[in-house]
Amino acid sequence: MTYADYGLVNTKDIFTDAITRHYAVPAFNVYNMETLSAVVSAARDSHSPVILAVSESALKYMGADMLMGMVKGLKIKESEKIALHLDHGSSPEICQEVIKLGFSSVMIDASKMSFKDNMSVSKKVADFAHQFNVSVEAELGTISGIEDENTQSQYSSYTNPDDVIKFVERTNIDSLAIAIGTSHGAYKRKSETEELRFDILDKITQRLPNFPLVLHGASSIPENFINLINTYGGNLSNARGIPTQQLKRAVELNICKINVDSDSRLAFTAGIRESLAQHPENFNPREYLSCGTKKIYDNCIKEIQEIMNSANKA
Ligand code: G3H
Ligand code: 13P
Ligand code: ZN
Repeated sequence: MTYADYGLVNTKDIFTDAITRHYAVPAFNVYNMETLSAVVSAARDSHSPVILAVSESALKYMGADMLMGMVKGLKIKESEKIALHLDHGSSPEICQEVIKLGFSSVMIDASKMSFKDNMSVSKKVADFAHQFNVSVEAELGTISGIEDENTQSQYSSYTNPDDVIKFVERTNIDSLAIAIGTSHGAYKRKSETEELRFDILDKITQRLPNFPLVLHGASSIPENFINLINTYGGNLSNARGIPTQQLKRAVELNICKINVDSDSRLAFTAGIRESLAQHPENFNPREYLSCGTKKIYDNCIKEIQEIMNSANKA
């Protein structure tokens, strides 16, 4: 089956619209039935396009058949704009594998390689993916934090604006993930005053006007989830995300895909912890998992409206 048979779309047309109408398409990570249904329901209810981001470890966790069975079960309509995207693909082989499964978009993350090798690997993936009309994202510069179980990067190096034109032209990719100070996980900025490098983003936007730029590690780490988790037996201290205002400013400067995973992880954990603490007699997983799912759903709606500006754009 091709991705179109699942009702999925690639990201090319969505990004063109996002740039024209100044919004960002949310890429929410999914890894089970609960995350998938929360994210898709939030996108549907707010009429937003959405990218379902699946990391290699999430794919392994669900299994390809289970994932594609669930995607089929979504019964996506032609009028919807839903893409299925490989997040942080570590090799051309995994990108090819998921394209055959029915993914409509892939990220090849060769950002830890030399500039030359990153270019050659990203081009190889683009050449293959484009035969199937699948869109390709690559990364220039490195984003710190835990990316996935295979490719952990402790250090960040900002994207060099002088590299971007050559990289995009030589690779023929469809979107570019850039490093401007975000990082993966719940512990992002070292201080409250730390800002994203808007000067770098501005230079990149000037060199690549109208080219889709992607922001990874963009969770805002809502304080209410941290408080709920800590109130009900968790221990997360010094968690800090990217403030909403900074994310909105990034959207104005052509960031048209914003990746969020940690916020949903926190929402799910907060909902489950709260439910279990408030109903100690309960041992029915469907009840406490539903509370976690509802928290993800509410947070996705909030971010679609307050950060992405993507409501009613599908
Ligand atoms: O940026 C990566 C995502 O947060 C995926 O993380 O490999 O643990 O699913 P994961
Ligand atoms: P967060 O950890 O900030 O949610 O980033 C997720 C991400 O970039 C997935 O690719
Ligand atoms: Zn990422």
